[in-house]
Formats: sequence, structure tokens, C-alpha cells
Amino acid sequence: MQIKNDALSLILDASDKKTLEEIKLQFLGRSGKLTLALKDITKVPLDRRAEVGKLANEVKESVEEAIDRQEGMLQHKTMQTKRQTLDVTNPGITPPHGHLHLITQAIQEITSIFEKIGFTRVRYPEIDWDYYAFTALNFPANHPARDDWETFFTKEDTDSEKGQIVLTPHTSNGQVREMERAVADSKKTGQPVSIRMLNIAKCYRRQSDVSHTQMFHQFEGLVVGENISIVHLKGVLDYFVKSYFGENRTSRIRPYHFQFTEPSFEIDVTCGVCLGKGCKLCKAGWLEMGGAGMVHPNVLKYGGIDTKKYTGFAFGWGVERVLMMKEGIEIDDLRLLYSNKLEFLEQF
Ligand code: DAH
Repeated sequence: MQIKNDALSLILDASDKKTLEEIKLQFLGRSGKLTLALKDITKVPLDRRAEVGKLANEVKESVEEAIDRQEGMLQHKTMQTKRQTLDVTNPGITPPHGHLHLITQAIQEITSIFEKIGFTRVRYPEIDWDYYAFTALNFPANHPARDDWETFFTKEDTDSEKGQIVLTPHTSNGQVREMERAVADSKKTGQPVSIRMLNIAKCYRRQSDVSHTQMFHQFEGLVVGENISIVHLKGVLDYFVKSYFGENRTSRIRPYHFQFTEPSFEIDVTCGVCLGKGCKLCKAGWLEMGGAGMVHPNVLKYGGIDTKKYTGFAFGWGVERVLMMKEGIEIDDLRLLYSNKLEFLEQF
């Protein structure tokens, strides 16, 4: 009984969790007073043992109960003081600020540069008929040039006229789709055909190494109208290079071959590090940006455009490529862009 009274008064006096824990040990721990007393029950004469044992267990239970109650009380008290000390005028915890993905930023910047000179961003399918990806771009059936694009052909629907469905290997599939739209528009309004298209989309090719990913982005320009010439192409190109890369960068066009343009060009931009002098990064001072050319008359015909009246130019450049060519952005492995690694993305 003495133990019980001692324990209860100590418990009621305990004003914090730590003290309560110590009291618990002192009485109920392995060599606690109550534990030892319970062990001593074996020494009580047999005829009284049951009675003493019952009593001792009751004492143990009431001590345990008292401890639990006091514990609850202390917890309640701490909560109350916490509530009282909560200053609602304190500034909250600011959640970490994210930012748009590097590619999204680049797409927005490219779009706004072209919008300033009257281009409209459009969206065409990223999974499209072979017809728009190849045939209507002047690729004869089974022409080996189709292999250059390392295309993912799907086993989905095959249409007797439009062929198989492919994951678009380039954004050029938007060209004939845009022509079809513009021709229909011109028929409706009676206005001449006028196209200034910017098609930015995902492209897919069978490739994967440090500078190629199976999915990447291109931005495709298409201008069709009366008297459109290479001069316009070069003007737009120069405007883009200065706006995107900076006044100190220049571009050049080099003869090349594409099925859907004639003449065709490869476009180079002076290297951002040596500005054209030649360095380790670029070799001869130039970095390749992508292709361009005057739209092949066959392609205009596929789009239903009168080739006697209209001409056009087109270009297709890589979003990731121009991003990497921008000064100050060095990405050793393109695949990092899509890895969702914040350590990488937060650098930009
Ligand atoms: N589609 C080509 C490619 O993916 C790039 C290209 C070249 C687009 C010339 C064009 C063009 O519009 O005129 O490599």
C-alpha cells in the first residue's frame, strides 16, 4: 500500500514527460519497486499468496492507469500552450518555387520570336499517316531516303490512300496539312493563299545516344504566297538567329538535299564560343542548326496549291539543338533533359 501511495503522489506531481518516464521506470521497470515486490510474492506463505497476489496486481494496474492519465494530461497541456504561442501573423513556409522545363521555355521563346513577324503557331498530329510524313513530301514509295528518318511505323490502321500510321519523324508532316487548310480557307474567303506557319511538335526516331533521343522537338516554318523567294528565307533565318542567339551570331546557308525542297539548304550558325573563328566545340566556327529550302513544286501540288501563282519556303530546326547551341547552356548528354533529375533541371 505504501508503494501505491508513493507512486500515485509522485505521478500526480510529474509536470513533464521525462519525469513521468523516470517514475514509470522507478516502479514498473525491470528492477522497479513494484516489479520486485511482485516477484517477492513467492515468499508469502501459500495460504495468503492468492490474496496478496490479487492485491499486488490491483496496485500495479492502478499505477499504470495513473501514469496513462497523467501522460494524457501533459500532452493536452503542451497542445494548449502550443496553440497559445501560435502567431498567425508569422510568414508561412514558402513552398519551393519550380520553373517551366527548359524545353517548354525554349518553345515559348521561339514562338514569340516568330509571332512578332506574323507566324502563327499551329498544332498538327504527332502520330500521322505515312502520306503526310513522306508521300506528300515527295518521297516515292520505298525510296531509300525514308530510311534516313529511322521512323517508327506502327502496326495500326493502314489506309489505302494514306498508308500506314507513323510516329512523326519530323514536323514537316504539318506542311501539306497546313496547305490543305489554307487552300480551303482561300476558297471560302476568296482571298489569296497565305501561309506563315510555325509547327512545333514532338518527333520520334529510332536513335538514342548522348546527342540523340528517341523523342525530341522540332519547329517547322512554312511560308507560302506570291513572289516568295530565297531572300525571304534568308531574311527570316537571320532575324531568328539574331533574336534567339544574340546580335553577335550570324548564319549561312549551304547547298544540301531534301526530297521536299528545291533548292535545299543546311543552315549553320556561328559558334557561340569562338564566334566563327573555330574552336574545339565547333571545329570550323560553325554549328549546324537544321534544314531549309524552297518548297518543292510537287509538295505544293500535293497541298492543292497553284504552282504557277505561288511559291514558298520551309525550314525545320531542332528545339533541343538550338537550345544547346545557345551560349552558356552546356548539356553533355541530351537524355538528361528528359530524366526529371532536379539537380540537373534546377541549374537553369
Ligand atoms: N524535316 C527535316 C529533318 O527532319 C528538316 C527540314 C529540312 C525541314 C528542310 C524543312 C526543310 O522544312 O525545308 O531533317
